Amino acid sequence: MPRLLNKTALVTGAASGIGAEIARLFAQEGAFVILCDIDDNQGQQITNELGDNAIFFHLNVAEEKEWQTLTKLILEKYHHIDVLINNAGIIGLGCHFGPQNPEECSLENWHHIHAVNLDGVFLGCKYAIKMMKPLKKGSIINVSSRSGLVGIPAACAYASSKAAVRNHTKSVALYCAQKDYQIRCNSLHPAAILTPMWLPILGEDKETAVKNISSQIPLKHMGKPMDVAQAALYLASDDSSYVTGIELTIDGGILAGSSASPTEK
Ligand SMILES: NC(=O)c1ccc[n+]([C@@H]2O[C@H](COP(=O)([O-])OP(=O)(O)OC[C@H]3O[C@@H](n4cnc5c(N)ncnc54)[C@H](O)[C@@H]3O)[C@@H](O)[C@H]2O)c1
Repeated sequence: MPRLLNKTALVTGAASGIGAEIARLFAQEGAFVILCDIDDNQGQQITNELGDNAIFFHLNVAEEKEWQTLTKLILEKYHHIDVLINNAGIIGLGCHFGPQNPEECSLENWHHIHAVNLDGVFLGCKYAIKMMKPLKKGSIINVSSRSGLVGIPAACAYASSKAAVRNHTKSVALYCAQKDYQIRCNSLHPAAILTPMWLPILGEDKETAVKNISSQIPLKHMGKPMDVAQAALYLASDDSSYVTGIELTIDGGILAGSSASPTEK
């Protein structure tokens, strides 16, 4: 029995990496998937792979007007959504953003990264509640990061935005529970998932860089987008109907330990 039969799921940042894999898995599991991204070409290409079970819309998650237009369109055409994956995000490393450490990160870049990663999630939650209220049920899944739980000196705006996503998830979960909307809200905390986001970080010798990173992970390999998609499937499906306000790590064990811990002689 497909686990998302008769559900409509909206996935942001669905043109690449984790978002694209979530869209594929959700379509396989019987959902009608609304893919959104700022990358229209790539987004449409992934959508075409999914056939009649999917549609693509342009959406810049940081722009409230675009959320308003999309919400109106979805309510008119599909009447509601059951699932929202707030997945779109940027790390700001290895591109035109410049240094991302706390001493050198520019205020402009700090604001831009928060606009996409945090404002985007705030707006997604706000408009998802509108799109879920007609059926009085739903599941919102916010893609945070391990960086929402620990500091990242080389990407401080990213880490700050993801920490805020973790916290906002709990406010949304409790607010929806207080209002008896039957809308659940949970956060995912992936780490070291090999996607295009990592390409500028890995540099020219990708293979050696992946080996080095893998050696620092308890499970000794980087994760795949499907590892995150399976966690999203659990939180989207009715299997998790008593689960709200949690944070689920998908990190090969990275956050299970700490440095300078005692070892056996
Ligand atoms: N890959 C990892 O190791 C990892 C770890 C922790 C968290 N995450 C989070 O997972 C999510 C997906 O990351 P990924 O690794 O698949 O990256 P990715 O770069 O492969 O995909 C990100 C997608 O978001 C889209 N996007 C960027 N800005 C947008 C905007 N303003 N509006 C709409 N779409 C926008 C991009 O076009 C792209 O399709 C991100 O939120 C990221 O922070 C990833």
